[in-house]
Amino acid sequence: MEIVPAGWMATAVLASTLVIAGLVYQKRRLMLLRRYGLRGPAPLPILGNMWELIKGGTAVMEEKWLKEYGNVFVWSFGCMQSITVKDPEILKAVLIKDFSHFSSRKLLDTSPSPLDKGIFFLKDTDWKRVRSIMNPTFSSVKLRMMTDDINKCARNLADNLLKCTERDESIAIKDYYGAFTMDVISMTAFGLDVDSQTNFDNELIGHMKKIFNNASVPIPVFLSAIFGDWMQQLLKYLKICFYPRDSMEFFDREVRVMIEERKRNPSNRTDLLQLMLNASLEMSDANANEKAERKMLTTDEIIGQSFLFFLAGYETTASLLSFSAYEMMCNPEVQDRIYEEIVEQLGEEEPTYDNIGKLKYMELVLNETLRLYPALARINREAAKTIEINGVTIPKGSAVTIPIRALHQDPETYPEPTMFRPERFLDFKPNQNNINFLPFGHGPRMCIGMRLALMEAKIAITHVLRKVMFVQSIDTEIPITLKDIGLTVPKTPIRLKVKPRKV
Ligand code: HEM
Repeated sequence: MEIVPAGWMATAVLASTLVIAGLVYQKRRLMLLRRYGLRGPAPLPILGNMWELIKGGTAVMEEKWLKEYGNVFVWSFGCMQSITVKDPEILKAVLIKDFSHFSSRKLLDTSPSPLDKGIFFLKDTDWKRVRSIMNPTFSSVKLRMMTDDINKCARNLADNLLKCTERDESIAIKDYYGAFTMDVISMTAFGLDVDSQTNFDNELIGHMKKIFNNASVPIPVFLSAIFGDWMQQLLKYLKICFYPRDSMEFFDREVRVMIEERKRNPSNRTDLLQLMLNASLEMSDANANEKAERKMLTTDEIIGQSFLFFLAGYETTASLLSFSAYEMMCNPEVQDRIYEEIVEQLGEEEPTYDNIGKLKYMELVLNETLRLYPALARINREAAKTIEINGVTIPKGSAVTIPIRALHQDPETYPEPTMFRPERFLDFKPNQNNINFLPFGHGPRMCIGMRLALMEAKIAITHVLRKVMFVQSIDTEIPITLKDIGLTVPKTPIRLKVKPRKV
């Protein structure tokens, strides 16, 4: 008879115990949710509703369940249970009024330290401290100081697009806008003039691109969802996450070198790194109390924020610009009107933080683009305690999912929601009380880079439209089809042609 080694036996017993514990936990939580009268699709053991979501697509299933169960329903992705909420009063409470009970996100991310120190991933008091240090970094005074750098990158972008007009072929517009936002974030975050639009050999940019190209591998997410918190912690410990390890290590090393260099020779630049350093003090993670009191950032925290700025600032803004180019191409009258506004309001002036405020029609176009193509299709918050809002009980530890794309497609708020109509934002002003327009989230935890992103987009469009026009090409896909994932991205890259504006 073959003897099974003791080590294997122990592993098998441990694994079975953990799976059984996970199942019991899952069952108990579901019973709790049902006890509070929350309705939703029936879950399978271990997987929850994972299979339906993968097979049917998240957006499709979300729409189906919203129709079937109304504006509040419960579903689960493995162990992670979530309550999707589309009810405006509950949303206002979760995001704004009762924010103190919903200040954290519930994430399946397994990024190891120091990447997990990025503000997006932080919870409770850690988040509060880092956010209060970071907020002034994006103030209007600081943004004003960044406009020269952004203009420089936008001039390169417009010149590159003008060069494309010499070739009678279509381009993948995201390649150009992606290189532009990469340049802007390198410059505004680190003062690095990488010119990724023409210099393809920069090592940092090469690694960042590798990180983005690999970022969709969801295996750690599935494992964490199925096996729960202990698996998430184990993957974090083993440094298994979405991103390629060598690229993360490269980034970590490079930023550490930059920090040391800046400490030796402080810069008078107003890039995000210097602003974080000015707000920081050399201290180890060990003296956390002192850190909390002094409102300082550690070196690891600075690296975490730096990585996050790349992550958050590159893809989102490039995608806003690419979708806006696509809509301008489909609606030439919109494109003409934006150009006329630039001529009337700015003439030949360089765009600045102040004069871009006059580009009101461009603002409507950007809002309508963000409505149709919000970078994040949904966001979430975690309930820190059991709370009743508007007759709905949200148990402690549950995730509350805010279905941004579904809110933006609601025909009651946006008649004929699939149509691109910038004018609808003339009457519909995104403001504190309006919870139906959430491209940047809402409340104290909303996107910290919103004003930077909108400023960047307006400056880029001004430079670009002064030189070129977007036109349809033979291989342009109309209508666009979107991938059904958390990020709003087209199934195939948007292709179009550029023509010189002055022939
Ligand atoms: C069009 C461009 C952008 C869009 C659509 C966008 C969208 C979002 C959304 C939806 C969130 C989640 C908000 C919530 O949960 O309420 C978020 C968070 C965040 N964004 Fe952006 N973003 C953009 C650009 C940027 C840029 C340029 C930066 C920085 C350089 C940035 C940095 C962040 C950070 C740090 C957070 C986490 C905030 C926190 O947890 O306190 N984003 N963004």
